[in-house]
Amino acid sequence: MAKRDLISVLDMKDEWPDLVDLAIKLKKERGNNDAPLKGKTLAMMFEKPSTRTRISFDVAITELGGHALYIDVSKMQMGHGETVEDTAKVMSRFVHGIMYRAFDYKMMDKIGENATVPVISGLDNLEHPCQALADMVTIKEKKGSFRGKKLVYLGDGNNVCNSLLYASAIMGLDMVACCPATRMPNAEIMLQAARIADENGSKIIASHDPQESCKDADVLYTDTWISMGDDTPVEAAMKLFNMYQINSQLLSIAKSDCIVMHCLPAHRGQEITADVMDGPQSVVFDQAENRLHAQKAVLYTLLK
Ligand code: CP
Ligand code: NVA
Repeated sequence: MAKRDLISVLDMKDEWPDLVDLAIKLKKERGNNDAPLKGKTLAMMFEKPSTRTRISFDVAITELGGHALYIDVSKMQMGHGETVEDTAKVMSRFVHGIMYRAFDYKMMDKIGENATVPVISGLDNLEHPCQALADMVTIKEKKGSFRGKKLVYLGDGNNVCNSLLYASAIMGLDMVACCPATRMPNAEIMLQAARIADENGSKIIASHDPQESCKDADVLYTDTWISMGDDTPVEAAMKLFNMYQINSQLLSIAKSDCIVMHCLPAHRGQEITADVMDGPQSVVFDQAENRLHAQKAVLYTLLK
């Protein structure tokens, strides 16, 4: 059977509902000693820093009976003369799967095309599919279902927002991408997500108006205003995104049982206030934990 990757949410579009359910099942079963990935090694390659992605992938494969290798890409021969293509081919002779965090999606695609083992994105400038999977797991746990529920993403239309658009459309969740006009999500992704949502009877909407968007929201979601690799000066970002901050005033417009999500790392006082981040409606740490269970579902499905 041909190897499969998870570089874009769409790579596993049809399996997304099963992945969500498998993650929830594996969460319930955590601590049983099955080792379905015994003898399997995952190479975790990072061009940028990470806390959650690195640790949750390492723990996930370890708990499934396998082993993880942490690789700082800047310390490899790649970038010092060896090609990406050769690196991907060589790595494939050693390990059973590659998790890669890239600055540029073109690098991710090149690794995917040349590796003969599954390649899983740990984020690039276009998408963060494993984050979106953990987010869907969290919403299912907290809200029970997706149909008729509304998620409002506020702030920078970045990689996290792009993958959320695809995941929401696939799961039948209504989503509003509420961002400044100059920082909307990727236009092609937005269009494709809207098409998928249309087939599923849900809605993908673009907005620049947080006060209007947050009415009747079940989930408010935000991410950093300055992503890794983005050179927007802090002052400029503060000005541009100020009205998109998740604070108690914005939260009061949403449904009374609205949950607040953030992929983390968070910047209290910027995209989210400390009182909301640490308040009763915030589910950010459950969401972070779900990275572990979501990653297990992905590793099990692709590497078993
Ligand atoms: N949310 C997320 O991917 O966090 P890290 O950058 O810490 O991996
Ligand atoms: N959008 C952020 C997500 C970090 C997990 C970034 O790319 O830096």
